[in-house]
Amino acid sequence: MSGERIVVLVSGNGSNLQALIDACQTGRITGSIVGVVSNRARAFGLERAAKAGIPTQVVRKYKEQSREAYDAELADAVAGFRPDLVVLAGFMRILTPVFIRRFDTVINLHPALPGELPGTDAIARAWDSGMERTGVMVHEVVEEVDAGPVLGTREVAIDRTGTLEQLEAAMHAAEHELLVEAVAGLTR
Ligand code: GRF
Repeated sequence: MSGERIVVLVSGNGSNLQALIDACQTGRITGSIVGVVSNRARAFGLERAAKAGIPTQVVRKYKEQSREAYDAELADAVAGFRPDLVVLAGFMRILTPVFIRRFDTVINLHPALPGELPGTDAIARAWDSGMERTGVMVHEVVEEVDAGPVLGTREVAIDRTGTLEQLEAAMHAAEHELLVEAVAGLTR
């Protein structure tokens, strides 16, 4: 194992996790993914991790649990992997300072450009808004949602002769490239 220790948090499909796994395998990223943590037991990203031989952990939030109590439990699980870098790659929960303050560097991938469309369903909202372009960004995680110092962006043109599905595919392709580039830059 070489370089920085990376822990990735996922909630679903994990195509961005897969891009990171592939980039570690080819040496484009010099760090290693030492753990994948999810809030959902059925996240396909967990299967991707297992297939790559990466340890996984699920931390479910119980209804009666406060956000802070959950974030402390999540942070304990992540800290157990002793990460240098924590990557939120499709992790669909807003994290409180209880989590954020535990780690030196936490970064997030968001499918919109800085200052535009924070929150969920950003791709569909860009499509519905009539915008001519949108994009993706990687930023450091701070207390404000989908804000924080920007590490990189990619613009994506919105082809109004195409479909929302085509835009989604273009956005995901841009995310995979940008996230790998950002993590490669941070782990060099
Ligand atoms: C990505 O669009 C990410 O930006 C968003 O959730 C999606 C996750 O995709 N917040 P995947 O699980 O990496 O395939």
